[in-house]
Amino acid sequence: MTAWDALAARRAAIPVLAPGTVWLAGAGPGDPGLLTLDALAGLSQAEVIVHDALVDARLLALAGEKARLEFAGKRGGKPSATQADISQRLIALARTGARVLRLKGGDPFVFGRGGEEAAALAAAGIPFRVIPGITAGLAALAAARIPATLRGVNRAVIFAAGHGADENFDWAPLVRARAPLVLYMVMHNLERITAALMQAGLAADTPAAVIASATTPQERILIATLQGLAAAVREQKIDPPAIVVIGEIVKMRERLLSETASLESRQSS
Ligand SMILES: C[S@@+](CC[C@H](N)C(=O)[O-])C[C@H]1O[C@@H](n2cnc3c(N)ncnc32)[C@H](O)[C@@H]1O
Repeated sequence: MTAWDALAARRAAIPVLAPGTVWLAGAGPGDPGLLTLDALAGLSQAEVIVHDALVDARLLALAGEKARLEFAGKRGGKPSATQADISQRLIALARTGARVLRLKGGDPFVFGRGGEEAAALAAAGIPFRVIPGITAGLAALAAARIPATLRGVNRAVIFAAGHGADENFDWAPLVRARAPLVLYMVMHNLERITAALMQAGLAADTPAAVIASATTPQERILIATLQGLAAAVREQKIDPPAIVVIGEIVKMRERLLSETASLESRQSS
């Protein structure tokens, strides 16, 4: 019995992607090991896969042989499809009777406009299903050995976008919450947002980290203070996509790394 058969037996049935249906699935942060089994089932059954730029090529390689890939993100200066175009495309594909997988990086409902696509499908009467994915904000922290919550340190964590329609976003209430900040899409506004956080009362020496291309072969991790973060990113030429995390939880990385190193040296001696 293969692992796939064993899974099918355990679950009673692998979910079926029916003709005329759209699955709105999260692809996780990049590493194929972090794809869910349901998203994998979607990849193997879909006739059309509409994907974003942040969906790793190693995952698309898992598509069924007959699947057609359609790119729906931004690429190389070419005008990108609008959100309305993408939603209309999903509706049109489903109406042809195709089995459609809409594959988005991370989780489809976290800073991914999946909610808008689901609303458009619902309004058009298209049957759809939402398959969660591991969001970059959690995967990047775990990859960098930074616990998102740590007993005695924080009992809340804040996910926020550093890029959006509202350039005058008020960061002060988030700073007052005294919870670590996990920021998506912040790299182009890092200087301005770190300054705004300090202005709102967050200490300049608060530990901070950038985790770029988490869980991919290009992964890079930078540790700094809130004050030094933007300059360090510039100096080390760290490119998006990246997650920025600011808070005491960042310190745990050093502790875990040094304890792992001393364990390894004890084992090898
Ligand atoms: C449009 S948002 C999509 C978020 C996605 N839906 C999720 O749940 O992770 C894109 C942002 O996600 C973050 N991101 C996505 N993949 C990443 C990765 N592998 N490493 C670091 N950050 C990533 C970056 O902040 C990037 O700018």
